[in-house]
Amino acid sequence: MPGIVIVGAQWGDEGKGKVTDLLAEKADTVIRFQGGNNAGHTIVREGVEWKLHLIPSGILHPGTTCVIGNGVVIDPAVLTGELDELKRKGVDISTLRISSNAHLIMPYHLLLDQVGEAKLGEARIGTTRRGIGPAYADKAARLGIRVQDLLDEKILKQKIVAAMEPKRLSLRPFQKDPSLDLQAMTDAYLVYGHRLESHIRDTAKLAWDALDAGRTVLFEGAQGALLDIDHGTYPFVTSSNPIAGAACVGAGVGPRDIDEVWGITKAYATRVGSGPFPTELHDDLGEDIRQKGGEFGTTTGRARRVGWLDLVALRYAARINSLSALVLTKLDVLSGQDTIRVCTSYLGKDGVEFPDFPYHQSVLHHSTGKYIDLPGWSEDITGCRELDELPQTARDYITFVEEFTGVPVTLIGVGPGRDQVIWTAASDGTIPRR
Ligand code: IMP
Repeated sequence: MPGIVIVGAQWGDEGKGKVTDLLAEKADTVIRFQGGNNAGHTIVREGVEWKLHLIPSGILHPGTTCVIGNGVVIDPAVLTGELDELKRKGVDISTLRISSNAHLIMPYHLLLDQVGEAKLGEARIGTTRRGIGPAYADKAARLGIRVQDLLDEKILKQKIVAAMEPKRLSLRPFQKDPSLDLQAMTDAYLVYGHRLESHIRDTAKLAWDALDAGRTVLFEGAQGALLDIDHGTYPFVTSSNPIAGAACVGAGVGPRDIDEVWGITKAYATRVGSGPFPTELHDDLGEDIRQKGGEFGTTTGRARRVGWLDLVALRYAARINSLSALVLTKLDVLSGQDTIRVCTSYLGKDGVEFPDFPYHQSVLHHSTGKYIDLPGWSEDITGCRELDELPQTARDYITFVEEFTGVPVTLIGVGPGRDQVIWTAASDGTIPRR
C-alpha cells in the first residue's frame, strides 16, 4: 500500500496527528502537503505530550523520512523553534526534508493577517493570525518568497522589496516595526536559511523515489474538508486545499500514486473560528463535551465550538475526498449520553429540507440540523481494544456512520493515548477484518 492520504473530514482538529503517528510506524516517508503552523497536532506517547505545528508527526519514529512539501507555507521562526525543541528532547531531526519550493511566511504576512481580521470586524474569519492567508495570497500573486530564496542574499532582498511594494499602504501603521526593516528581515531570514540548508531538497523527486521503490508514503493533511478554500464554507475557510486531491499538488506526485484516502472524523463535531456550523450546541451539553473532549486549540488555545456529528457534511467530505476509510476519533467522549444525535439532513429557512450539503452560502448560514436519535451507552470504553468489547449501542453508532457515508470505519479512538484505539482493519490498513 504505497500512497496513503490522511485528511480531516470535518473542520480540522479531528486527530490526524495521532493517526499519522500510528500509520507512520509502517511508513517510510511522511509528507505534509498544505497549510502551515495554523495546524497543531497533539500526540501523546508514553504519557508525554508532543505538540507539532509544522513538522510531520512521523518525526517521532526513528528512520522515517519527514517531508515538508511544496504546498506548505513555512514560518521559519516557528520551524527552527520546533526543531530546537525536538532536539532538546533527544529526537533525531536529521530525517527532516524541506521542499525548496515551499513558500515562506514573512513578518509582513503576520501583520497583514491581523490587519485583515481587524478590518473585517464582526465579519472576521477568526484566523489563527499566523499569516497563512497573506502568504498564500502572495504565492498566487507570484510575489512569494520560497525556501530556496533563503540561500541567496541578493535574490532574497530583491524579492522582499518586490513583495512589500504593493503592501505599503496596508503596512503604513507598522512603519516603525523593527521586524519590517529590510536589512534586519533579510539578515534574519538568511540565518534561517543557514540553519535549514542541510534539510532542503527536491522533495517531489524524493516522494517519487520512495513510491517507485514500493515504499509506503503517508501524505499528511492539515485542517479539514470544510475549511477547504474551494469546497469548504467559504469565506470562513483556510487559504489552502486540505482535501485529498491537494496531496498530489502539494507533494508533487500524480493521482495514480494515491492508493488509499483515510478521512478522520471525531464522533461529534467541532469548529474553531467563525462560519456556519449547523449542528452547533449552545447549551450545557456542548460545554460538557468541550470539557470532556479537551476542545481547546493546540495552536491558539481558543475554545472550540462543539456540536453533534454532522453526517450531511461528513458524506460530502467522503465524496470530495473519495475516502476509502474513515477513522472515528474520541468515541469515549460520548460515553454517558443517554441519547446521541446525528444530523442526517439540514433544515433551511422556511423548513426546507436539504439532504445534501447545500452549494449556496446563504442556505448553509440559515441551516440547522435535522437529527436521528441513537441510544447512547454509559460504560467507560477507554480500555476497549477490540470492536466486540464495545457496548452494542456504540457499535450500532459506528455502523450507522458507515452506512450513511458509505465508507468503512477502520480505526476508532477511545482515549488520547496512542494505544487507546480499536483497529477494525489490519494496522497497515490493507486487509479489512470485517
Ligand atoms: P487561517 O488558516 O489561520 O487563515 O484561518 C482560517 C480558518 O481556518 C479559521 O476559522 C481557523 O480557525 C481555521 N483553522 C486553521 N487551521 C486550523 C486547524 O488546524 N484546525 C482547526 N481550524 C483551523
